Amino acid sequence: MSDAAAGPMARPAQARQPWAVRLGLSPRFHAFCAKVPGLRHIARAEGAALFDIVQGFVQSQALLALVELRVLHRLAEGPAPLAALAGPAGVPAERMAILCKAGAGLGLMAERRGLWRLTVRGAAFLAVPGLEAMVRHHPVLYRDLADPVAFFRGETQPELAGFWPYVFGAGGAADPTLAARYSALMADSQGLVAADTLRMVDFRGVRHLMDVGGGTGAFLAAVGAACPDLRMTLFDLPAVVPGAEARFAAAGLRGRVKIVPGSFRDDALPGGADAISLVRVLYDHADSTVTQLLRAVWAALPEGGRIVVSEPMAGGAQPDPATDVYFSVYTLAMQTGRTRSGPEIERMLGEAGFVDCQYRPGFRSFVTSVVTGVKSVNDSPQKSV
Ligand SMILES: C[S@@+](CC[C@H](N)C(=O)[O-])C[C@H]1O[C@@H](n2cnc3c(N)ncnc32)[C@H](O)[C@@H]1O
Repeated sequence: MSDAAAGPMARPAQARQPWAVRLGLSPRFHAFCAKVPGLRHIARAEGAALFDIVQGFVQSQALLALVELRVLHRLAEGPAPLAALAGPAGVPAERMAILCKAGAGLGLMAERRGLWRLTVRGAAFLAVPGLEAMVRHHPVLYRDLADPVAFFRGETQPELAGFWPYVFGAGGAADPTLAARYSALMADSQGLVAADTLRMVDFRGVRHLMDVGGGTGAFLAAVGAACPDLRMTLFDLPAVVPGAEARFAAAGLRGRVKIVPGSFRDDALPGGADAISLVRVLYDHADSTVTQLLRAVWAALPEGGRIVVSEPMAGGAQPDPATDVYFSVYTLAMQTGRTRSGPEIERMLGEAGFVDCQYRPGFRSFVTSVVTGVKSVNDSPQKSV
């Protein structure tokens, strides 16, 4: 029957639920599974996975308390009794006991013979660059998500955009103190991103790399160390780039790097580089800004020049447990950005005129994935729009 024949009150045809979902919706089926060996095991694992989702916000807040009260830091100095953790933190011993057991439940610490100590996971938490800074930055996002219904309806004014002042235009990021705060957070976590990018992209053969939106130069410092003959240009906002001087000087890279202050929204990108990287830049911005930026990159490259986009990417048709939850919600709270999938970025590169575009999924999706492309003068951006 056609829609017209069905009349104005007809309901849209509903797709039939798959049989497994119909079973999942049945309390009798769950009662049955709980009794059957084999099925009972699967049901318990599914239940635990569901409960992990339900309690996720409590896990995060317990971790934040362990960080802010410096419990993990104290244990990094050596095993300690409860009193040595509670006293300096200003937390009554009986409440600290509950927090420590929560930390043990998270696998971060353990108690043996009356002494609390770090586990390998707890030690790794402190050692992974950027992780602690990320957790300490999360209260902003936590407040933005306090009313998730209003948040997803678009009825709230998230605070997070204020942390990244450039999202509403380069002029927003003129305050050097704000710029230093966000640049430090990014630089802290850049080590892992650079390491994974260097695993996926071979920069040998590149003569001159320009990192656009390169912050205080942490990515270029890592690539420069791996490729001793590479010349480099750092391009970022005027309030940001002064922070790169000390890094390049300390790494002995001063003679190999040129620092160019500017805004890719308002200024032409400098020429001269045969490869341009955009690391954790696109996901901050709306499609229109990204389109304009990719065209500017195309214009700044010579024939055969390469573009390298590196950032956490959404899973597309197969949503990813990290990027489609954390990064997509985070960039939504930023108000201007969007976590795009690899194929989407590949398509946008193609529309900007790049050819031979390749998506390389990262082996840690929550750290980064890469899309690369090559400039061919036969395919101009105007032609492919
Ligand atoms: C999320 S941070 C990433 C920094 C660095 N690439 C990294 O991965 O650590 C985004 C960077 O883009 C820069 N940025 C934002 N808008 C810009 C603009 N209009 N022109 C130049 N840089 C800009 C910011 O200052 C910031 O350093």
